[in-house]
Amino acid sequence: MNAITPAGTLVAVCAYDDLVPDLGVAALVDGRQVAIFRLADGSVHAVQNLCPFSGAHVMSRGITGSRGEVPTIASPVYKQVFSLITGECLATMDKQPAPGLDPNLATYPVTLDNGQVNICLPDAA
Ligand code: FES
Repeated sequence: MNAITPAGTLVAVCAYDDLVPDLGVAALVDGRQVAIFRLADGSVHAVQNLCPFSGAHVMSRGITGSRGEVPTIASPVYKQVFSLITGECLATMDKQPAPGLDPNLATYPVTLDNGQVNICLPDAA
């Protein structure tokens, strides 16, 4: 069941135990492709699955890592590096995003509830 909050809609996506540490998965959440990562520290992060630089829905196949304290995901296509916290593109690898795409990733708040992973989708403006 989905819960409506002032900021958005919480959508249950999977069980926490279904997520393999450091291996991303893609979920179709209310028509949106979301890449979900459970990190070695147990935290879960969700970003758009669309890679802004290749224009392909591949972020869930990216490589997890870190820059200092910031957990990151590197695109499997051109290896751009993004913060899993803010979605900010930290390394463009001297490339431009595909036409019309923002270089940064959308991020989605994740909550854990009794072993269930929920993602908050912002309400359409
Ligand atoms: S429910 Fe908290 S940001 Fe969406």
